[in-house]
Parts: sequence; C-alpha cells; structure tokens
Amino acid sequence: MSPRLRHLTTLEHLPRETIERLLDRAMAMRDACAHGTRKIDLLTGRTVLNLFFEPSTRTRTSFELAARRLGADVVNFDIGFSSANKGEELYDTLHTLEAMHLDAIIVRHKASGTPDELVRHAMSGVSVINAGDGNRAHPTQGLLDALTIRQHRPDFENLAVTICGDVKHSRVARSDVHALSALGVRDIRLCGPASLMPDAGEFAQCRFVEDFSQAIEGADAVIMLRLQKERMAQTELPDEAAYFRQYGLDSARLARARKGCLVMHPGPINRGIEIASEVADGAQSRILEQVGNGVFVRMAVLGELLAR
Ligand code: NCD
Repeated sequence: MSPRLRHLTTLEHLPRETIERLLDRAMAMRDACAHGTRKIDLLTGRTVLNLFFEPSTRTRTSFELAARRLGADVVNFDIGFSSANKGEELYDTLHTLEAMHLDAIIVRHKASGTPDELVRHAMSGVSVINAGDGNRAHPTQGLLDALTIRQHRPDFENLAVTICGDVKHSRVARSDVHALSALGVRDIRLCGPASLMPDAGEFAQCRFVEDFSQAIEGADAVIMLRLQKERMAQTELPDEAAYFRQYGLDSARLARARKGCLVMHPGPINRGIEIASEVADGAQSRILEQVGNGVFVRMAVLGELLAR
C-alpha cells in the first residue's frame, strides 16, 4: 500500500494507488453524508486553519464544511488581496498561527511554491494542504475533477478529455493533467490561443490543438477554464468577444463532442466569455456536481492527513 500522506501540495508524481485511495475515501464520505450523517467524528479535537492570501468562494467554503463535518475546529484567516511580499512576513504569520497549536494549514497564495515553503518551515506535526498556488497546482481541484469524471465514465483508459482556455495560468489544468494521466487517461487535449498555452515540454503527455472545434471532436469530457486576468500581462489580455467566438463553449461546439460529453468548469464561470449560459446550465453540465464533490474530496484529504 502506498504510504499515508503527511502533506498535499501537488498531485504530480503521486502514485495512481494514492489518488485512487483518496477518490475511494471521497466516495465513502459521500455515502456517509447521503445517509443523513452531517457529522463524522474523525477529527474531533483537531484544529484546521484556512490561510487564504487570494480570494476564494468554493474552495475555502468547502474546506471549512469538510473540516466541520469531520468534527474539527476551523479558523479562517483571510488576507484578501494583501500584496505583502512573502519572505519574512509569511513566516511570521506562520509561526504566530502555529503557536496556537494547529494540526493543518490550508493555504492559497498567488506565488507558486508557497505551500512547499510552508512544509519546509512548518513545525513538525503540522500538515500543509495546497488550496491553489499561483499557476502551479490545485490538488484538491484535480481530485474532484477526476472524481466527477469517474462517477460517469470510470473507463479512464478510453477517454478523451479536452481542457480549453487559459491553460498557461491555470493551476487547475496542471492538477487535472496530473490526476487524469496518473489514472490512465491517454488522450488529453489542451486548447487555447497560442499566447495562453504553456511550454509544450511541461505537458509532454498532452496534445496541443489550437482550434477548439478540432480539440472537442469526440471528447468525453470538456473542462473549460477562466481567463485568469490577474495572472496575465497587459499584452496577453484577449478581446473577450473574439475570444468567445474562437474558444467559447456553446451548444454548436458541444455538438461536436461525443454524445453525453461531460461539461466541466472549476468556477467562477464567466458566462459569454468562456462558456454560454445554455451550456453552463444545460443537461450536460456537471459544474454543480463538481462543487458538491469538492466537499467529499476535501473530507477525504483531511481524513488521510489528520486522522489519528
Ligand atoms: C480556480 C482557482 O482558484 O484556481 N477556482 C477554484 O478553485 N474553484 C480556478 C479559477 O480561479 O479560475
């Protein structure tokens, strides 16, 4: 059996077995909650800190719900748009908070690599969970996306998955690729304007297709991404109307995918920019299922890291 995780900063290089164990645990959490249980006494007496240096709706709330459902105490520490540079200030914050005897720190930060720095500096016994760092990783999103796909299409080896939009700045795309390739998906297509594509070397296991109509042809799942303007240089900003014409998902484009193709988006969605309302709210949309799965996946991760 693959060893139990102490921290979760990325899915990169995690063995398939570990990812499957987390998804199985998430299903078990879902089943427990489906039978009316709102409290599972797995983490009673444990304290979890939400340390968010970037805004968040879904991720922060679902981590909080997940921790509470497992009986843990939760402290929220929102720093919003603080432009404080990392370095000393971050570690001061860390040690101040640690002095309050925490068991886990859930961190979101605009600088890639912050969670790993916290792992290096955190007191022993404190687990670090990455809730999104720069464009690098968003492991619980990768897990919840894999879980959402698995619930409908468990035959990962035969799937074609299209990830479309601002891949270059997307930590979600990176964690999705890590999760899906570990689980056996061989046909992953990355699509978007050339200026918003990452270096091919980083995604050697994926196919780059610039034309969206081609990229979505026969796809079993399509994951749409937001234009992450906060991480773009001025020159990278596309014209939104032109962007929607080329890379927006509407029903005509969706018709090119395989029948029943799963429509996914990590949120927040921008209607009329990367996705049309008819599709976001349509029968094939799995967007709210993703949100629901986010709670179960985060319960699974907290349980893996913190249960005694
Ligand atoms: C994503 C993020 O913050 O990386 N959102 C999320 O966690 N659900 C994607 C995004 O912001 O576009």
